[in-house]
Formats: sequence, structure tokens, C-alpha cells
Amino acid sequence: MTRQDDLSRRGMLMKLGLLFNGAVGVILAVPIVRYLLSPVVRERNAGYESWLAVGQLDQFPAGQTRLATYRHPAANSSDGDTANIPCWVRNVDGEMFQVFAINCAHLGCPVRWFPQSGLFMCPCHGGVYYADGSRASGPPERGLFEYSYKVEHGKLLIKAGEMPTTGAPTTSLINIALGKPPCA
Ligand code: FES
Repeated sequence: MTRQDDLSRRGMLMKLGLLFNGAVGVILAVPIVRYLLSPVVRERNAGYESWLAVGQLDQFPAGQTRLATYRHPAANSSDGDTANIPCWVRNVDGEMFQVFAINCAHLGCPVRWFPQSGLFMCPCHGGVYYADGSRASGPPERGLFEYSYKVEHGKLLIKAGEMPTTGAPTTSLINIALGKPPCA
């Protein structure tokens, strides 16, 4: 074997190695790129931006808080009842509404509304919230999460594709930011 053959074989093996490393690098990069692009891709997903009706307005009398449910927009037929998501709807004064996620802001247990005391209470660790969703006592560090809502053709709609998070402040926090009392 000549020195020339040896060099060309070594060069070919080097190129094959680089090609193989490049292919592995691309395969490993796919999940990372997908993760980095997920916020953009998610916003393009129609389900996340859906406005869903939780009921006719007359189902929610002024001054009362009622339980409602909606079907998660990203659900498929095999999800069954697990895709029916409950939420609490508060008709503040006949015009303004608040729609709360049912999950406690501590560890997510479903909170219950007690009209007698005007409080939401969590059965897990004793978290308590006022009627406007703001924190009253217990381990939760903030108020209940709220959905965005709008009224259209006599129906109450919420932006339900994505569960509310800490990025969606409660009315009380908005009031504080506006310089109003928390329960205004
Ligand atoms: S989950 Fe509600 S207080 Fe802990």
C-alpha cells in the first residue's frame, strides 16, 4: 500500500466520521429546536387561541358565582369526560364577570365556592379566597387564576385553550396596580 493510498483512505474515513457526527448532531438538535420554538408553534395552534362558550348569560345571575364547564379545545374523542374542565363564573354586577380556574393556586386541588360565607375554600390544605378570587388565607401565595372572557350573542366566552398561569393576575392585583383597593 502506497503512502498516497493511506492518505486518501484516512481522508475518506475522516469525512465519513464528520458526516456521521453531523448526522448525530442534527438528530440531537431536533428536540432542542422544537423546545425553543414551542412558544411560537403553540400560539399557532388553533386550540390555544379558541374562545369557548361556558354558557348563556342568564345561567349566571348578577351577584352570584356558579360552576360551569367547558370542553378543552385540544381534546379528542378518546379523552372522554376528562376533557370537560370546570371553572367558577362570578357575575359581579350584571355586566362584569370573573371566570376562575377551579384549581387552587397552591397545589391545584379543586376549590369550592361557599355562598354563605362568600369564600372559595380549598379542601387540601385550607387555602381560602375571597369572592373576587384574591387570597384570603392559607398556603396559596396568590389569588385564583382567571380566564380572559368576553360576551358575544348572549353567551359568555372564555379563552380556554391554555390554563391561566401567574402571567394572568387576578382582578385584585390589577386593582392594586391601578391604585384602587383590592376588592373594588
Ligand atoms: S392545594 Fe389548596 S391549599 Fe394546598
